[in-house]
Amino acid sequence: MSKSAPSLTNCENKKLPHQAMGHPHFHESACAQVSGTAVYVDDIEEIKGTLYAAPIMSRVAHGQIKNINTKLALDIPGVKGVLLSRDIRGDKKFSNFAHDEPIFAIDQVHYIGQVIGLVVADSVMKARKAAKLVECDITPLTHILSVEQAIRAKSFVLPPVYVKRGDSEKAIKKAAHIVSGQLRVGGQEHFYLEGQIAYAVPLEQSQWLIYSSTQHPGEAQHWVAHALGVELNAVKVECKRMGGAFGGKETQGGHLAVWASLAAHKFNCPVKMRLDRDEDFLITGKRHPFSYKYRAGFDGKGLLQGLDLIMASNCGFSADLSGPVADRAVFHVDNAYFLEDVSIASFRCKTHTQSHTAFRGFGGPQGMIVIEHIMGEIARTLSLDPLEVRNTNLYKHHLDGQRCVTHYHMTVEDNILEPLLKTLASSSNYKERRKEVSQWNSKNPLIKRGISITPVKFGISFTATLFNQAGALVNVYTDGSVQVNHGGTEMGQGLHTKVAQIVAGELGLTLDKIRVTATDTSKIPNASATAASSGFDLNGRAAQYAARQIKTNLAAFVCGLDQCGAGAVSFENSEIITPKRKRPFKEVVELAYANRIQLWSDGFYRTPKIHYDKTTLSGRPFYYFTYGAACTEVAIDTLTGESRVLKVDILQDVGKSINPAIDLGQIEGGFIQGMGWLTNEELVWNAQGHLSTHAPSTYKIPSVGDTPDHFVIDFWTQPNCEDNVFSSKAVGEPPFMLAISVFEALKEAISAAREDLVLDTKHIDLVAPATAENILKAIRASDF
Ligand code: MTE
Ligand code: MOS
Repeated sequence: MSKSAPSLTNCENKKLPHQAMGHPHFHESACAQVSGTAVYVDDIEEIKGTLYAAPIMSRVAHGQIKNINTKLALDIPGVKGVLLSRDIRGDKKFSNFAHDEPIFAIDQVHYIGQVIGLVVADSVMKARKAAKLVECDITPLTHILSVEQAIRAKSFVLPPVYVKRGDSEKAIKKAAHIVSGQLRVGGQEHFYLEGQIAYAVPLEQSQWLIYSSTQHPGEAQHWVAHALGVELNAVKVECKRMGGAFGGKETQGGHLAVWASLAAHKFNCPVKMRLDRDEDFLITGKRHPFSYKYRAGFDGKGLLQGLDLIMASNCGFSADLSGPVADRAVFHVDNAYFLEDVSIASFRCKTHTQSHTAFRGFGGPQGMIVIEHIMGEIARTLSLDPLEVRNTNLYKHHLDGQRCVTHYHMTVEDNILEPLLKTLASSSNYKERRKEVSQWNSKNPLIKRGISITPVKFGISFTATLFNQAGALVNVYTDGSVQVNHGGTEMGQGLHTKVAQIVAGELGLTLDKIRVTATDTSKIPNASATAASSGFDLNGRAAQYAARQIKTNLAAFVCGLDQCGAGAVSFENSEIITPKRKRPFKEVVELAYANRIQLWSDGFYRTPKIHYDKTTLSGRPFYYFTYGAACTEVAIDTLTGESRVLKVDILQDVGKSINPAIDLGQIEGGFIQGMGWLTNEELVWNAQGHLSTHAPSTYKIPSVGDTPDHFVIDFWTQPNCEDNVFSSKAVGEPPFMLAISVFEALKEAISAAREDLVLDTKHIDLVAPATAENILKAIRASDF
C-alpha cells in the first residue's frame, strides 16, 4: 500500500505536457516566491497619502483604565492622531460569534498587549514611536493566569462541556490496574514568516477595499462592514496569499483589517497596519495551553476499561475560537482507540492573557496527546511494549460491529489503523530497534535513547457544519486560457496549485493554462475560512463542478457539430475529442464563443452526510478521517537535559494524492512544527502576566539543524472511501500530530534514565514542551 514519496520537481516541470492531476507539480507561486516577485500585502504599491497605524498596548494584565494621555505622542511631527474606543461610533466590539471582544479596550484591560488604541502617522516608525509615548493610567485589578486559578474562580469564557459514555467510575473500580496523574502541555506561537497586516483603502461612495493577510476574507469583510456601519456589499476584502498562517490568521487577521479600516475612516485616507514581531507575539492569540487530570483503569494486557478525564484549556481573555477548539480536543481524546466507559469534562478557562485561537490541529493535538500519554503510562506500568498496548486498544473494523463507535457516537467506517501501523512497524524496523535502544541504554549511563510509534486519526470537516460549503468560479477566455477563483486562501499549503490541477485535469489542459486569482469577497461571497484542512476538499470540488459545467456546455456544442452524444466527447491533451474529430481546446473555445456559448461557470459544493448536536457533542461531525503514524527515535543527555530527534519514519494516509510533492511538504512541515511545539517552543508568562518570550531571541522554533538525519516519509495511497475530490484526503493538519511520537519517545528515554537513578520508571511526569529544563525535572522528579 505504501509508496515512496517523490522528490520535489524543478521549475521546468510545469511546461511538460503530463497529467495535471496526481502529478508532483511544484507550488504555483514557487518561482515568484524564491525570486522575490510574489506579492504580499506589504509589497502592494502604496497609494499616495497612505498613513500607518501602530498599536497602543496595555502594560497591565487586568485593570481599570483611569486616563489616557496622548499629548506626548501627538507632539511628534508627522503624527496625525490617535484612535481610542470612544472614537468608535457604532459597536465597540468585534462582530464575532461570542461578541465578547472589544475592538479597543473599553474601560478595562484584560491582558498585557491588549490594544487600547492606535496612533496614526505618516510613517510606520513614527507611529510606533508615538504609540510608546501614550501614557495609560490603569489601576491594576487581580489577574488570573493559570487554569487552576481560573477553575477555582469559576472564570470561564464559555460553559464547561461534559461527554460521557457508559459508567467510567464503575469500570475503573472493576479494573485490575489503574493509572492516574496530570499532564501539562504548553501553547505555541504561530510564527508565520509574514506578520499580521492589513491595508484599508477608502473608495468612492463609501466603499472599501481591504487587502488583508487573512484565512477568512469573508469574516474580515463582515467585521469591517459592521465596525464601519456599512453593508457587506460596500466592502471588498482581497487576499492574494499569506506568508504562512497556521490558524493564526483565521480570526486575528480580521482584527487588523478592522483596526486599519477604522483609522482609514477617521482620517479618510488609506491606512496600513503591520505588526512587528514583538507586537505580534504580545497582541495575538496562540495555541491553547492545556492541563489534564486523568484516571484510567485497564486489564493485564493494557486494554483500557474506563477513563475519567478533566481537560482545562487556557483560552485567554475572550472566547474567540475556544469553543470549537476545545470541542475538537474532546472529539480527539480517543485518537485511534476505542474508549468504552468514558467521562470527559472540558473547561474553557478565562485568563488574563492573549485570546488563544486556531493553530494547526485546532485542539486535536491537545486531545490526542493525553490519550497517547496514558497509553505510554499503561505500557510502562505493565512493562509491555507501548506499541502492543496501542494495538490492543485500536478501533476495530466496523464490519466486525464492535469497538468501532467513537465516544461521540460516530461509527469509524474507514479504519485503516491496524494495517497502517503494522506496515510502519515493519518498514521502520521498530521491534529490532527497540531492542537496540534498550541495549544502548544498558551500556550508556549519560545518553539515553527512546523510541516510540504513535498513530493519528484526525476528523476532517469543520465541526460547525455550516462552514462545510464552498464556491468557485471558472472563466475560460477566448484564447483558451483559464482563470479560477474560489473562496479558499493560499497560505503556502498549495491549495491554489491543487485547485488549478483539478481544473486542468477536468478540462484536459496542462497546468500552465490555468491561473488562480486572488481570493476576493466580491467574486465568491460568504466563503468559509480556509481551515480544518478542508480547503481543497471544499474548494477543489466547487472548482471541479464549475469546470464540469463548462465541459457540459462545450461538449453539447461539439456534439452539435459532429452529431454525436455528449457521452462520447472527451477532454484530453488540450484537445476536445469526438468520435469524428479531435480539435484543439482553443479552437473549440473560439468557435463556441462565436456561437454564444457560455464559457464560464460557478460551482458550489457542500459536504454530505455530516451533522451533530452541539449540546451533547454527538453525531457525525466528520465526513471521514485522515490517518497516519510515526516512528521516532530520540536521545537525551541526562546531565544537561538536551535532546535530539535522531530518526523519524512516517507513514501518512493521503488518499489518492492530487499532488504528492505538496503533500510531502505538508507532512514534513507539519511534523517539524509539531516537534517544535513539544520540544523547544516555550511560552513563558511572568507573574505579572507579561509574555517574556516575545521574540525569536527567547522563543525557539525548530531550525534546519533540528531536522532529523533520518527522515523517511511514505504515503499510504489507498483512495478515500468517501466520495471526496479526486479520492484524495486532507493533509494540512494531520501530520502535525505525528510529532506526539517525539514526546512519547522522550518519555521512554527518561524512563531509562530514571532506571539508573533507581527512581520510578513507570510514571513519567514530563511537561510539554520537553525543554532541557523540563527533561531534567522529569529525570529527577521523585515525589510520586
Ligand atoms: N502550510 C503552510 N505552508 N502554511 C500554513 O499556514 N496552515 C495549516 C496547513 N498547512 C499552513 C499549512 C493549517 S492550520 C491548515 S487548517 C491547512 O493548511 C489549511 O489549508 P488546507 O485546508 O488547504 O489544507
Ligand atoms: Mo487550521 S488551525 O484549521 O487554520
